[in-house]
Amino acid sequence: MSFKEQEPRVPVDIKSIYHPYPGCYFGFEGGDGGGKSTQRELLVERLQDLGYEVLSTREPGGTALGTEIRTWLLSIDREEKLMLITEPFLFAADRAQLLASSIVPILDRGGVAVSDRTFYSSLAYQGVGRGFSMEVIWGVNKHAVASVLPDVVIFPDIDPEEGLRRRRSAGDGKFDRLDGEQVSFHRRVYEAFLALAEDDPERWLRVDATKTAGEMHEIIWERVKQELRRRKLLEQLTSAHV
Ligand code: TYD
Repeated sequence: MSFKEQEPRVPVDIKSIYHPYPGCYFGFEGGDGGGKSTQRELLVERLQDLGYEVLSTREPGGTALGTEIRTWLLSIDREEKLMLITEPFLFAADRAQLLASSIVPILDRGGVAVSDRTFYSSLAYQGVGRGFSMEVIWGVNKHAVASVLPDVVIFPDIDPEEGLRRRRSAGDGKFDRLDGEQVSFHRRVYEAFLALAEDDPERWLRVDATKTAGEMHEIIWERVKQELRRRKLLEQLTSAHV
């Protein structure tokens, strides 16, 4: 099956999977240069100011083990080449460790986890970008993820070429193995994110990343509040707080 023939649709019915814990799990997804990190920081700060217990994390690299896996996944100067088949397993191993050691415990305590990237990145990058297929990627991940998918996926929507331009001109020297892929790869990944967002609008919030950071944050905050309310985590706050 060629990349083009592949329909970037959610494979099994993961749309109906929600975790059973009292806490809330928010994930940021999308390509580079859309302001994911800035938005994550703004959200984390606001939640902390309101007194929530917050875990701010990222994939890959949210644990000590994950940090080591991350260097293998992203470095461009290793003597041993990372085989294509190995890549999805390493992302899944990083995720298994993060979910079991950090995310599930905080959700279980009724806290909030905010992550820069989640399982959906594997669907977009490895499933569609690399062409493994969504089914294969879910197969590799399902025991790691179990029921713990993010309650809300926040997707700052930026055209991939514009995103790469922003990333390069930021000049922060952060240019890794995946950033170095061709524009066509990033375009496929972007289209996968769009399709995932369209396919599961209950969970996904697409935010126009040409808006200012402040405007984007307010849109995100409205959706986050909705979710906190749904999980009965907003009641402890007075309206003056929110
Ligand atoms: P990083 O610099 O942490 O993130 P960002 O690009 O969001 O600033 O790089 C993580 C890279 O790993 C990014 O190119 C996306 C990629 N990735 C996958 O390919 N699959 C995955 O499952 C995850 C979590 C990330």
